Amino acid sequence: MGRVAIVTGGTRGIGEAICKRLKRQGHMVIANYAGNDEKAAAFTAETGIPARRWDVGDHEACLAGCAAIEAEFGPIDIVVNNAGITRDATLHKMSFEDWNEVLRINLGGCFNMAKATFPGMRERGWGRIVNIGSINGQAGQYGQVNYAAAKSGIHGFTKALAQEGAKFGVTVNAIAPGYIDTDMVAAVPAPVLEKIVAKIPVGRLGMAEEIARGVAFLTSENAGFMTGSTMSINGGQHMY
Ligand code: CAA
Repeated sequence: MGRVAIVTGGTRGIGEAICKRLKRQGHMVIANYAGNDEKAAAFTAETGIPARRWDVGDHEACLAGCAAIEAEFGPIDIVVNNAGITRDATLHKMSFEDWNEVLRINLGGCFNMAKATFPGMRERGWGRIVNIGSINGQAGQYGQVNYAAAKSGIHGFTKALAQEGAKFGVTVNAIAPGYIDTDMVAAVPAPVLEKIVAKIPVGRLGMAEEIARGVAFLTSENAGFMTGSTMSINGGQHMY
């Protein structure tokens, strides 16, 4: 059965692969994006998936953005909180703004999107929320106190909201990707990235589509008994 699904940060990287996969599953998918209008237009032209621009770290913008989508397409039954940024630096070089911005967008975005959509799912008795965490939220990462804290927060957020949604048919799960071949990972300095890849047992970066397949399962009817879990897709880099 096709449902209305929204994917934040949906026009690039992992989000783009998730949008395409959910569309192939028969859902009416809408991609949210933050700033790159040119890429969003190209994405819509290629996929036919509408893209809507707002900052997921902005609470009011999330409420308004989701309300507009519901007015146009119907109730949102599937939310994939994928939007995220990095502002990597060691703590002694990290500014308060770099700390705050990563928390505001990566973790605050999950709260804002859930506030906009969870009450409706609860009332209708069905919903799927998938939050994209990270291996670096599970294991920590040198130079990422902001990102690791936000992603670790996402894993806690997931387990807490899962308990609230369970009796209403709303499942809430996380995926913890490892290092995936995206622009975000390409921004890691090459010598640093080489050392990281050398520690991945599978011997390569992951592909965005490999995360999208996990999302497809977690958002399906078949996953109704799975909630509050974290699916680690990381090539064996962190077995947790
Ligand atoms: N463990 C221990 N020491 C480390 C280290 C590590 N993992 N990484 C770097 N260091 C050391 C270096 O060896 C160096 O030590 P010396 O001065 O004694 O040689 C010192 O730390 C400084 O290293 P840099 O020259 O790299 O310092 P920098 O200030 O220029 O950059 C950094 C620091 C920004 C953290 C940079 O190392 C970096 O970008 N690292 C990668 C961080 C990372 O993995 N980000 C993931 C982004 S992708 C993502 O987040 C997606 C996801 O979910 C997986």
